[in-house]
Formats: sequence, structure tokens, C-alpha cells
Amino acid sequence: MKNINQLARSNVLNMHPYSSARDESGGIQGIFLDANENPFGNNNRYPDPYQRELKQKLSELKNVDAEKIFVGNGSDEIIDHIYRVFCNPGKDKVMFFSPTFGMYQVAAELNDVEVIDIPLTSDFQINTEEIKKYITDENLKVIVICTPNNPTGNVMNPKDIDYILDNFNGIVAVDEAYIEFTDQRSYIDKINRYPHLVIFQTLSKAWGIAGVRIGMAYANPEIIQLLNKVKHPYNISALNQKAAIEALNQDSEFEKRKSIILEEKKKLRSALEKLSIVTKIYPSDTNFLLVEFSHVDQVFTQLIQKGIIVRDQSSKIKDSLRITVGTPEENLTLINSLQTLNDTL
Ligand SMILES: Cc1ncc(COP(=O)(O)O)c(C=O)c1O
Repeated sequence: MKNINQLARSNVLNMHPYSSARDESGGIQGIFLDANENPFGNNNRYPDPYQRELKQKLSELKNVDAEKIFVGNGSDEIIDHIYRVFCNPGKDKVMFFSPTFGMYQVAAELNDVEVIDIPLTSDFQINTEEIKKYITDENLKVIVICTPNNPTGNVMNPKDIDYILDNFNGIVAVDEAYIEFTDQRSYIDKINRYPHLVIFQTLSKAWGIAGVRIGMAYANPEIIQLLNKVKHPYNISALNQKAAIEALNQDSEFEKRKSIILEEKKKLRSALEKLSIVTKIYPSDTNFLLVEFSHVDQVFTQLIQKGIIVRDQSSKIKDSLRITVGTPEENLTLINSLQTLNDTL
């Protein structure tokens, strides 16, 4: 196994990151005349560039040392940073397993990184036989595994993730955006065993603050330090740091909402099962259901006409729509609308 710095791009290793006024004063308190801020107002000060209070909270919650946490402007920012740190544009490659979350492809195109896109098997699992052809490619720098996967909704077999961790010498990024909705164990504890493992999580899904834009990476300090090097100096606003801490402090509300969503998912599934236009409902470890319909185009457009917006996934998975679990009222409106369509189509 190479060490992490051997995997990183040389320009990232050699660069001098921006040093903010507060970096240089080393956290001392006093009269701040060092950052050209306005002395008046409530939000006049630059935020903590390292989000120490928020990381402390996350550290307690996840039982991970703060030095092993990176906070990004959503996981989207972290995906981009991981590619940027480890992949030389026009030379290196990333691998992921489709259909999956679209940002892995977008970030690759943006960073001029070649994609090895391995289709999931028919039961939406990782095809390890296919991986074997590429796993020793020196230019393959990052493998991204999304579990539970968006848009298929299922968890990946841990045996296959372990195979990649044990046999691939680059960075293994496990995106656990939906981890709170499943009983499957998080890979977060394994960062202590695998120096090349990065876990992505987010406050956008089960924690309910997608508007605040907070994603987390959990990894060994070598990786976190590289992410800190390339991030924009004040990537998380003071207001967003505060909102994230407030959300994390409301853990009973988090649990309550999560159990409502999971209960509603069950109800939604059994109501959908009764409709003849529904031809398949895939298993889901997330807060959404992937549903196959007959007349999928008509179902999709007629739902929109009724003001109900779901995500059309038919270009990736035959005749399917991805339906996020809403409030009990929203789900009832959806079911009533689908019932009417069912009677007319
Ligand atoms: C698998 C997966 N990862 C990451 C994200 C984005 O998370 P964030 O809102 O933290 O950028 C999503 C959003 O849909 C997702 O489905």
C-alpha cells in the first residue's frame, strides 16, 4: 500500500494553501483588526475556517476524532475535492458503479478525469469480476461506492466493499448519504484499519437540512489535511455552521422524523403494491422508492400536471420513477392521484 501522499497530485503536495488572518493569529481572542472586516453588525466576522465547534459535535456523535473529519459545502464539494486532490487531469481515472449518483460523473468531467463506469449487476450489486480487470491500473486513483445507492435504493454487499478495500491501492470513497435509513453498518469504524478509506455522509437527508449544505468526510488525518489544503478558506458560512449544530442538537426530533419517514415508506409501498400500473417496487434502504410502472411516461407527466414531482429514472432503469417519501399528507395525495391514473390508464 502506497502512503497517502504518494497517491496525491504533486502540485497539491507542493502548493501553499491560503493562510487566513485567523490562521496566523492562532485563535487568540481580542480586538480583531486583522481581517479587514467591518466592525459593525451581527455577521461581520469571517467564520471559523475549520468549523471546530461543529466538528466537536460530529466527533461526539460519531465517535471519531475531530482531526479525522472534514466538513464540505454538501458532499458534492467533497466529491470534487477528492478527485482534485488525487487525480491528475487528462491522466488519471476514477471508477464507480452505474446507475448511481450523478455527481461522480459530473465531477470527473469537470476535473478532466477518465471514468471507468462498471454497470451494477441485475440485482444492483458490484460486479467484482469486472473490477479485477482494472484494479491494478496505476492511473486508477479513486473508486467510489455508493451504499445505500441512489437511485437503486439498495445497500452494496459488504463482501464486495471489503474486496475493494483489500485489493485496491488507491482511495476508496464510500458514500453513505442514506446510511441513517438502513440497518446496514456504516464503514466509518473501518477508517482506523484502512488508511485509504474515506466515508462521505451528509446532513441533507435524514438530518433534514439540505438547504444548509453540510457534507462530511471521515478519513485519516493525512487525507483530511489534503482536503483542507484545497478547500476554499471559508467554505462553510457562520450561519450554516450554527444551523448544523442546532440540527445535530435536536437528536430526538431527528429520531422522530426518521421513524415517521420509515413508517410512511412502508405504507407507501403497500399502497403502491395494490395498483395494477405498478409492475415492480425495488427494495429500499433509503428514504425513497424506485418503482417500475406500466405507461411510465404518462404516469410521470400526469403527476406533474397534478403538481406532484417525482424523478424519472427510465433512461437508467427500465420504466422507473424514483419517489421520495414525503409527509403523510403528501404521500396520501400521491397515492390518490396514482389511484385515479390507475383507473383511467
Ligand atoms: C448518494 C448521494 N450522495 C451525495 C448526495 C449529495 O449530498 P449533499 O446534499 O450533501 O451534497 C446525494 C444527493 O442526492 C446523494 O444521493
